[in-house]
Amino acid sequence: MSFLDKHDKLEKNSALLLIFMTLAVLVGGLVEIVPLFRMETVIEPVDGVRPYTPLELAGQNIYIREGCYNCHSQMIRPLRDEVVRYGHYSLAAESMYDHPFQWGSKRTGPDLARVGGKYSDEWHVTHLVEPRDLVPESIMPSYGFLLKRGAKLHDLDDHLRTLQILGVPYTDEMIENAQKDAVAQATGEERADISGLQARYGQSVNARDFDNQPHMVSEMDALVAYLQVLGTMVDFESAKAVEGGE
Ligand code: HEC
Repeated sequence: MSFLDKHDKLEKNSALLLIFMTLAVLVGGLVEIVPLFRMETVIEPVDGVRPYTPLELAGQNIYIREGCYNCHSQMIRPLRDEVVRYGHYSLAAESMYDHPFQWGSKRTGPDLARVGGKYSDEWHVTHLVEPRDLVPESIMPSYGFLLKRGAKLHDLDDHLRTLQILGVPYTDEMIENAQKDAVAQATGEERADISGLQARYGQSVNARDFDNQPHMVSEMDALVAYLQVLGTMVDFESAKAVEGGE
């Protein structure tokens, strides 16, 4: 029996054909899709991208809890109008440690992928407390209560550990020091020892009293720390200089 005869059988028996078609699609699908589940195969690593510090992570948790993503995206598309307005388009590597990612597609407010360093801490606090004090026509809700609420720090080590399981390169030392690092970052150099924080997350980590309330680490501290790091990890200026301009 030649190969063609066998195929003839398959073509005449619709149930058999269906089974073999399903098999072919399944195997093909697995071969194509499974590699994409592994971050290393789809994301080109970029210098400077690091996991969030525990305080920034606490801020991201508040960002998610408050549903900021309902009005704000965090992905600058590679289109001229977006790049002119928001800065360099987002790279996949910049959100590779976000679980869940905050790309979004709903922009009632502006994209926040590069809002870090765009405004002062004071601007953010004033804006979050009452957006209309700074942008009279704003429809953004007020989040003044964040100033009064202490940031939840005691379970940050569990958050880091969970992300470690998901592939974020947190070390055991980072997990052990999570709470301490969060307090140091929200206190700043003048009143706290931030050398451990810097050793673990880099010299350029923002460490200061973000909300100007020295007596506590508030949810406002955490959220502003998070907003201030967004889009600042990759140094596009020196990358451009190395390439010799775009
Ligand atoms: C109902 C929609 C809505 C929600 C929810 C919302 N925002 Fe906004 N946001 C806006 C709008 C509209 C603007 C533009 C006007 C303004 O600056 O207030 C804005 C502006 C901003 C800006 C300034 C961006 C820039 O580049 O000028 C920041 C930062 C910001 N929002 C952060 C947040 C955070 C953090 C949260 C969650 C705690 C949040 N927003 C929730 C609608 C929203």
